Amino acid sequence: MYITGQQASTGQEQVSKVCLGCICEVASGCNVTIGCDESVCGPFRITWAYWVDAGKPTLNDNAKENAYAQCVNDPYCAARAVQGYMAKFAKDCDGDGNINCYDFLRIHRFGGYGCSGNLNSKYENTFKLCMQTFSKE
Ligand SMILES: *[C@@H]1O[C@H](CO)[C@@H](O)[C@H](O)[C@H]1NC(C)=O
Repeated sequence: MYITGQQASTGQEQVSKVCLGCICEVASGCNVTIGCDESVCGPFRITWAYWVDAGKPTLNDNAKENAYAQCVNDPYCAARAVQGYMAKFAKDCDGDGNINCYDFLRIHRFGGYGCSGNLNSKYENTFKLCMQTFSKE
């Protein structure tokens, strides 16, 4: 496959590193040792259904039994799950005419449907500050 320009034909890498980092930050403080709670795991707080929708990325080829938890507790595999999920559900949630990280945050938070809901203001402010801080380099 030949990729020219920034719109890779697979659409797999549309979420930037800064965007991933800030989603991770607001999800858990990007705590990579946070583990699993009742229905979410890992620094991005990913559910089993989210991971399935993301295409069931795996940490390695041997991952079978615990593939979900193994993947989403690993920051890189979890980031691949986010990429996969966004490749499937990307849309303009906030109606500003762009599909960008603010939409990805909403999709991450609310799922692929209903992503135009209201974000908690503390969550939103933490996210904006993160984006401003890390987008400046
Ligand atoms: C990460 O999460 C674990 C488990 O909840 C907790 O014990 C630890 O203190 C957290 N680390 C940070 C840096 O917040």
